[in-house]
Amino acid sequence: RPSCSATTALISLGSLLLLVCGLWLLVTIFWLQAPSNRTGGGDGSRALPEPQACGVVPEAWRFDCYPERGVVVTRELCEARNCCFIPASSSPPAPGRNGVPWCFYPPGFPSYSLVSVNATDLGQTGTLVKTVKTYYPKDILTLQLELLYETDNRLRVRITDPSESRFEVPIAVPKATEKASSPAYSVELSNEPFGIIVKRTSTGAVLLNTTVAPLFYCDQFLQLSSSLSSQYIYGLGEHRSSFLHDIHWNTLTMWARDVAPTELTNLYGVHPFYLAMDEGGTGTAHGFFLLNSNAMDVVLQPGPAITWRTIGGILDFYVFLGPDPASVIGQYLEVVGYPAMPVYWALGYHLCRWGYGSSNATWDVVKNMRNYRIPQDVQWNDIDYMDRSLDFTFDPTAFSTLPDMVKDLHSHGQRYVMILDPGISSVQPEGGYWPYDEGLRRGVFINHTDGSTLIGKVWPGLTSFPDFSDDVTHEWWYDNLKRFHDKVPFDGLWIDMNEPSSFVDGSTVGCPDTELENPPYTPGILGGLLRAKTLCASAVQKTSSHYNMHSLYGLLEAKASARALKRMLGKRAFVISRSTFPSQGQYSGHWLGDNRSHWKDMYTSIAGMLTFNLLGVPLVGADVCGFSEQTEEELCVRWTQLGAFYPFTRNHNSIDQKPQDPPAFSPAACSAMKQSLLLRSSLFPLLYTLFHRAHTHGHTVARPLLFEFPKDVRTYGIDRQFLWGKSLMVTPVLDPGVDYVVGYFPQGLWYDYYTGDSIRSKGEELRLKAPLEHINLHLREGAVIPTQRPNTTLFVSSGQPLHLVSSLSEDGSAGGELFWDDGESIDTFETDQYAHVVFTVNTMTSEVLHDHVEASYITVETASFYGVKVEPTRVMVNSHDAAFTYRANQVRLGVRSQRLSQPYSQ
Ligand code: NOJ
Repeated sequence: RPSCSATTALISLGSLLLLVCGLWLLVTIFWLQAPSNRTGGGDGSRALPEPQACGVVPEAWRFDCYPERGVVVTRELCEARNCCFIPASSSPPAPGRNGVPWCFYPPGFPSYSLVSVNATDLGQTGTLVKTVKTYYPKDILTLQLELLYETDNRLRVRITDPSESRFEVPIAVPKATEKASSPAYSVELSNEPFGIIVKRTSTGAVLLNTTVAPLFYCDQFLQLSSSLSSQYIYGLGEHRSSFLHDIHWNTLTMWARDVAPTELTNLYGVHPFYLAMDEGGTGTAHGFFLLNSNAMDVVLQPGPAITWRTIGGILDFYVFLGPDPASVIGQYLEVVGYPAMPVYWALGYHLCRWGYGSSNATWDVVKNMRNYRIPQDVQWNDIDYMDRSLDFTFDPTAFSTLPDMVKDLHSHGQRYVMILDPGISSVQPEGGYWPYDEGLRRGVFINHTDGSTLIGKVWPGLTSFPDFSDDVTHEWWYDNLKRFHDKVPFDGLWIDMNEPSSFVDGSTVGCPDTELENPPYTPGILGGLLRAKTLCASAVQKTSSHYNMHSLYGLLEAKASARALKRMLGKRAFVISRSTFPSQGQYSGHWLGDNRSHWKDMYTSIAGMLTFNLLGVPLVGADVCGFSEQTEEELCVRWTQLGAFYPFTRNHNSIDQKPQDPPAFSPAACSAMKQSLLLRSSLFPLLYTLFHRAHTHGHTVARPLLFEFPKDVRTYGIDRQFLWGKSLMVTPVLDPGVDYVVGYFPQGLWYDYYTGDSIRSKGEELRLKAPLEHINLHLREGAVIPTQRPNTTLFVSSGQPLHLVSSLSEDGSAGGELFWDDGESIDTFETDQYAHVVFTVNTMTSEVLHDHVEASYITVETASFYGVKVEPTRVMVNSHDAAFTYRANQVRLGVRSQRLSQPYSQ
């Protein structure tokens, strides 16, 4: 067996951990060196692998040769595929996990050879050829390889069929025009068998190595495996899991699906993107994105390695070089698009439930919130506002006062959002139903292959499904929204059930028996069939079959909705979508679906929120207090506190559950909830500025600790705490019956946000007091946070003067910024309609970097400085003496001042 260093020279794996390196190399060497006569010739004949060859493959590096579910894989079945069969030594896998495969590819399993390579303007192109067919139908024996050195930090690789065009995901991605001049990566190609090895040039770290297992490229089975550079891998949404993925034989299936968040199940959205830390705890990170929308399995195994197994499209992937985690996300979002700047009230408090039952009952909730002076920006209605569950109608009896309620909300600076489902009733309600009749006339619905409209079943009964891949449908959707808006002047849209969800499998008449319905391989989809609780895979859409378009449904509906709202209202669109796909953030936010009122669901919401921030959908949150099952007061208080730090915060409850809006609880609980909502409202200037950074630079808003402390391995698995931006750390209570919480404080100086008390951490866990009315917040040293006097709506509070909170570093410095505009006009940044102010402390100054009339509305009223070690004798503001307070232990100054646009000095 070659030594780690000797082999490093051979195939350049220098920076893998020693043990891992040894095991990995063993596999690779055999793979590369296996004699060709053992793998059969061009006539298709193949011999079984030598038992010794099978025996040398370490368990962690066994790539599953028989991933089909529901089959008891016997030696006979396995050997019929010319694979190795060795029952694993370990105990059987936990339910739902695959465990070590007993049937795995032997070294030298037939694959493609790279037979020619040519330089191109953007990189290289090559031809891959294979002579031996696999056991899946329609092998594509000749492939075209394209390497595109798009930027210094972004490599794109496309593997296509040169003889026939195949489905490609219809989202716009940037087209490079010239080759990167000094790429941070190098690419090595292995010829026989073909493989790609991508390394970080600065460190030699191997980020991708596809030689570890055979490449498959059949019409409906494409498979690519690679080593991972470490066990630290994130992203790969939408799944319910910890933020850091478990790499122990963990299969993450992707295919949009309506199901309450459950572990090891495909959920509402599909995001084939991961961020991984390089090996060795250096703090460098990279990313990988497979631009493919077909049903797929993503298998993580302890090698560490990953396998992408998709059943259509092409292999089109990107590698992002970072080098830090935040840059990886920025580079990914350069490809799929930065998130939209939200309208200001999107960041306020949203209240919703299924089953208010009437507009007056809904209105009463709003009035009650006003009575208690609890912040509320937006009231929502679920499907019960509709007449017989029909989109674009409202119940003329129970919701007769809906238009008046909406007008009342508007007159109080509040907004209204209601739900829409994509299913359009195909049964003629009395008096006709314009959305369906007109939709049929314009041909907007998804059809069966024979041209008949596909009918499924959702709330209203039999329904047809608009094809949002067609611009004609966008126009029809706009017309429907406009007609409804003329009656009920709503402000934003909640688009639900858009996986798309149906209560019958496929359609009311089933689906034809075709290759699209019954592919040779079906990923681990809940229900076992592509059509489970959705439409027939063979259904026809304008752009392509539903087989290819299914997981894009929510994205395209969000696009149509955002477009229509902008056109109709002339303002930024507010859309929250259940199903999502890469680039979603450009059009909508997301809520994490039908969680339960359980403590565990509150905990997993943090991972969900952080993951969607990585995926470019920062406007995200879970149903606060839990959707299904009855919540309890303590849980709801803690959840409202945590929810106050979701970028999108909405309390939502299922039908038949008791009310869970704040006034529904005891005065003490209600008051604790109110305090947390006021706190959120006071932090609006910070939150809004973070969204500006997300919109213009692809930054995260709710941020994992590892992004700010990438060299501290102890932050890699943290998903019980998180940051807003780079400085405000949130440590919520996630367990019942406790009045303390343990949080990790990365090395440095931290300040209690409320008191200014300092903590100097060596990088340690600390136990913090956390009585029921308190959520722990800490400011990292070196920050200036703009805050505002809170009020019951952001409409009011955002007109209030600022209070700046500075947390001084050891050397007395700090910095921060504020982005400010009118909160709702489209493209204010792009058209220079904004103010941008940068705050710097040493002498505290505020400099208006970008001036605009908006800047004249901003005033500073007070400022606190945490970490002033010696009591000052005098404080000057703009050369005048100012009143201040200094409290021992809290090292805090209060300063009274006036205009921001004048220099400000202490
Ligand atoms: C499913 C959604 O996920 C949930 O939030 C909503 O309340 C119900 N549909 C009813 O519309």
